[in-house]
Formats: sequence, structure tokens, C-alpha cells
Amino acid sequence: MTHEPREPRVARPRRYLMCPPAHFEVTYSINPWMDPSKPVDLPLALAQWEELRDRYRSLGHTVETLEPRPGLPDMVYAANGATVVDGRVFGARFAHPQRSAEALAHLDWFRAHGYTDIHEPAHINEGEGDFAVTSALVLAGRGFRSSPLSHGEVQEFFGRPVIGLDLVDPRYYHLDTALCVLDDTTGEIMYYPEAFSPGSRAVLAQLFPDALVVGPKDAAALGLNAVSDGLHVLLPQGAVGLFDPLRDRGFEPVGVDLGELLKGGGSVKCCTQELRG
Ligand code: ARG
Repeated sequence: MTHEPREPRVARPRRYLMCPPAHFEVTYSINPWMDPSKPVDLPLALAQWEELRDRYRSLGHTVETLEPRPGLPDMVYAANGATVVDGRVFGARFAHPQRSAEALAHLDWFRAHGYTDIHEPAHINEGEGDFAVTSALVLAGRGFRSSPLSHGEVQEFFGRPVIGLDLVDPRYYHLDTALCVLDDTTGEIMYYPEAFSPGSRAVLAQLFPDALVVGPKDAAALGLNAVSDGLHVLLPQGAVGLFDPLRDRGFEPVGVDLGELLKGGGSVKCCTQELRG
């Protein structure tokens, strides 16, 4: 496919919050990717995570770290702990009891780091796992984790229109496993249509007619669980079918091996919470 000539892509420096997988393990199963009978190589998980962190830093981004807490093996998926827009923090409330204490760990971090505008949510929401932020909108997933009621709550707090999207495939239980914002200024996205209900697919097609539509193989490699700075797109290296389409659009795909963290049902985006503003 050829595209009209357009402005070159530019990377904007970002600030991310990440949590090292010091206590990572798969001892329970709250999504179809998690199989407690499969062993996890902890040193390898740590090395893969450090490589992602170092990659962000080498691209000029700032990475803050959240202290991992014992007994919270999923804390490495830091994207779920809050949503931050304009320096304002919308806290998480987890759907599963195994993760509920993570919300507090995030709130503690924000309070200790000078954030004062912090909202403790009334409704279940798993942070950026289900909220994808562009400069104009918040795209919000529901169906497996975040409550539809959290959508109104997040719209009221940020004053940004929320588009609710119904997730229907348990493998894509969080929005960030099925949709990725490639350019938050223009609102360019990529997504896997089959993860959404017919009505939500129609909404996405109407709002994002130029989106990069991803197929089942790359979705199953968690290729949508990617992070873009506007130019570089860090994504699971197994999503081989996405590299050329991203390059065609002027992005620079950067493959990352997070194979151990895939065993918990997460990859690049899950490990990365963006601190906006
Ligand atoms: N094991 C975690 C869970 O099921 C993985 C979370 C992945 N995070 C994400 N942002 N999709 O909750």
C-alpha cells in the first residue's frame, strides 16, 4: 500500500513508570496466557525487562522505577496501576483480588513524587490496560476488567471525551492487547478488529479510517501491546508482520524480546505506564 507524502515522524521525549519483575512468577491464572504449570525464568525476565528500560533511555526517554513488592507478582505490568494525563492521576481499582494491593503501591509512589491531584476511583479500572489516551480522546476498554462505569468516571476527571469499546475475546482482555496509539497528537492507531464487538468495530472504523489494521498472527504475538513515542514503536519482536507496515507509515519499529513476561499475558505496553504532563 502506498501513502501520500507526509511530514516526517518526530519522537517526543516521554516519561515512563516501570516496575522491575523482582517478584515475578505465574502462580495464579487470571487471563488465558497464564499457565501456572509453566516455569518462569526469573533472571531472564529481569534481563529482558532491563533491556526494555535501557532501550527507552537510549531513545532519550525518562524511566522512573516503582519499588516491586513481594507477593504482587503482576506488579511488573505497571501500565495497570494508574492513568496520568496533564500531571493528574486517575488511580486503579483491580478486578482481581490477587492484584488489588498494586493500586495502593502506585498511589504511594505518586504521593511521594509530588503529585497532588490524585483521584481514588469508585469503579473498577485497570489503568492504561484499558485506557488509551490521545490528545483528543480516551479510548476505553470494557468487557473483561474495567467496569463500564469507570468510563464516565474517567471522562469526568480528565474532561476528555471517552469512547467505550467492548472487548469480546478473552485473549485480548485489556484494550492495550488489542489496540495501540501510534501517534497521540494525530490520533493514529493500530488495532485488531476481531477483539471487539461488531458495534465497537464500526465505531473504530468510523473514528479511525486510516488505522493500521492488524491480523490474527500479529495480535497473537501481542504485537498491539506496543509503545510509540511518535517515531519509534517498541513492540514484541514476534509480531513480524507489523514491521513493514509500520515502516511504510514512517515509523521505526523496534523489536523487543519480553518472552518471559508474555507468560503472564503482557508485553511492552503492559510494562510501561506513561506519565503525561
Ligand atoms: N497477568 C496480568 C493480568 O492478567 C497481566 C497484565 C497485563 N497488563 C496489561 N496492561 N495488559 O492482570
